[in-house]
Amino acid sequence: SAAGLVMVAAEHAELVSALPGGTFLKDEWKMRCYHGCWLLEKWVAGGIQLQRLFQPRPDDVIVASFPKSGTTWVIALTFATMARALYPPADAGHPLLRLNPHECLPFLENLYRSGTEAKLEALPSPRLMNTHMPLGILPPGRGCKIVYACREPKDVLVSLWLYYKSMVPDLTLDTTFQSVCRGGEIYGPVSDHVLGYWRASRAHPEKILFLRYEELLRDPADNVRKLARFLGVPFSDSEEEAGVVADIVRLCSFGHLRGLEPNKTGHVGGYFPRDALFRKGVAGDWVNHLTPEMARRLDETVAAKMHAEGLVF
Ligand code: A3P
Repeated sequence: SAAGLVMVAAEHAELVSALPGGTFLKDEWKMRCYHGCWLLEKWVAGGIQLQRLFQPRPDDVIVASFPKSGTTWVIALTFATMARALYPPADAGHPLLRLNPHECLPFLENLYRSGTEAKLEALPSPRLMNTHMPLGILPPGRGCKIVYACREPKDVLVSLWLYYKSMVPDLTLDTTFQSVCRGGEIYGPVSDHVLGYWRASRAHPEKILFLRYEELLRDPADNVRKLARFLGVPFSDSEEEAGVVADIVRLCSFGHLRGLEPNKTGHVGGYFPRDALFRKGVAGDWVNHLTPEMARRLDETVAAKMHAEGLVF
């Protein structure tokens, strides 16, 4: 709510104004760095609220990701897997046929920044939610499970550029590239975001599952099985025989979702263009956009940090 937004912002105005500042892509997109993460200034108060107030339940499932890493796909797959008893994936009335995947679950930071987080308390367990916040902003000692969507950084950059370009038509690749190399992008630096979750997933693989975009493309069915096991709802023999896994993969596939009405027009949350969430849906599209020099620099500034910790693309 608008009133909620104003109230939440006012509550933390002093703290926010003392944080390191900057801009991202446009002079009007004012940024602040909170806990090492760059956020739009007007979203910081919501992040603080989330960090202070969010109370995970042990059976909560959170889809977390850096933007443009395959969030929409992983949300769709997780929702379809968790809800399959109520909504069989081949059913003509499946919610994913009439809703954009992002409309099937609450986006945590949006609730907290508009002061409407009480809605979370009304949700029955197990709750499914999503966030782009880094792990450090989620409350410590989380009992919940996290599914982290992760993607090759050069493809993330290209997807990010073309996505923001749908909102800022004259945005150049170079401007976006410079921001990402500096680490000043929204929710960035991307390497810190990914590595925060990566370290935690290695320490607690039962709590954090990494789903990699390239792996999902290579073998979606096997990854859906892995996801279901992680969530504690493995597919039964009879489900396997009935082809439920294949049904989920088909329902959530790029070609299928992108052609549906709820994914073609308008904006999710009044802001994010729906059609721009489904662009090309492949791995390695960066070769069509980045110069070899840009690719090299991104490998050196971003991917190298991930490689050093065993996360290899
Ligand atoms: P491209 O821009 O490279 O095409 P996010 O959901 O995190 O915003 O990520 C968006 C990226 O995932 C876009 O990549 C988009 O096309 C791709 N995508 C969205 N839905 C997908 C799906 N069902 N299967 C595969 N890729 C998908």
